[in-house]
Amino acid sequence: MKRIFIALTAAVLCALILTSCVSPEPYDTGPETMASGTTVPETTVPETTEPETTEPETAEPETEPPETTEAETTVPETTVPETTVPETTAPETTVPETTVPETTAPETTVPETAPYENELGFKEDLSAYEKYMDPEDRDAYLLLVNPDHPLGSDYKPSDLTLLADRRGDRKDQLRLYAAKALEAFLKESRANGCKTMTSVSAYRPYNTQKYIFDNEVKGYMEEGMTEEEAIAKTRSDTAYPGESEHQSGLAVDVLDYDHTLSNFAGTYEAGWLAENCWKFGFILRYPQDKEEITTYVYEPWHLRYVGRYHAKQIFDMGMCLEEYVEYLANNP
Ligand code: DAL
Ligand code: ZN
Repeated sequence: MKRIFIALTAAVLCALILTSCVSPEPYDTGPETMASGTTVPETTVPETTEPETTEPETAEPETEPPETTEAETTVPETTVPETTVPETTAPETTVPETTVPETTAPETTVPETAPYENELGFKEDLSAYEKYMDPEDRDAYLLLVNPDHPLGSDYKPSDLTLLADRRGDRKDQLRLYAAKALEAFLKESRANGCKTMTSVSAYRPYNTQKYIFDNEVKGYMEEGMTEEEAIAKTRSDTAYPGESEHQSGLAVDVLDYDHTLSNFAGTYEAGWLAENCWKFGFILRYPQDKEEITTYVYEPWHLRYVGRYHAKQIFDMGMCLEEYVEYLANNP
């Protein structure tokens, strides 16, 4: 730049010398042109600074891509672990669900594939219960309880025993021999596919029976029956207070967990109970074909302890207890 300036200044001076030789007056404006000549560097300055101002413009886009790419890459990174969590937990929850039916399946096949080894054919070792199932005093438990043979409000057995195998918070009791025989019955029932059979009602004091009876009557009357109709209807399936076998401590209702009183009839459990209860000293007290004699509807859940000797006779002869007691009276 300095060389150009010096060259230009020299050229101007030469021109002024030459022009002053021809016409000295115009060269008086020399300093003006010299003044205008000083503006040349001013016009060239913007030309050199232009590239400097463009640099920031190109730098801006360089900062944007990193911002956008960082966001793009972090999105998939966070979603990947979220989708894998449910995939790993899903198999864990389905495994136990599929194993449940596998454990229940053998229960139904047990009774079909296991023949009895002898007449009684117990699968369990019930030798410790034998004296209770088949009492030495075989006539000690033949008590007949029905509307014609009530116990009265004061009757209470002296040998009530808490059942070993009870449902939930129940405190069911039976007379000692009946309680032990029931324990054996329930053990053997489980070995034969009745996995959850238990007592649902055993000894009932007079006041308990009264509560049950009165409550049922009340329910029927709320449905619109007269008191007379309600009592008659109740008496078909619930004993009047003082007339129930449950007060004797020799009767027990059994059910498995899958059924209620209303749907127990016809089940595998009900069938096994009816066929086998005599071996343990029990009878099905209210058979389906004896309703006119017993005065009560069929109760496939109601067992009555009488001891094996009489239970077998009653089972073999297809009698109800009323018929059997009469049979014994006529055949001493
Ligand atoms: N359900 C029987 C008859 C009773 O109440 O004793
Ligand atoms: Zn009962």
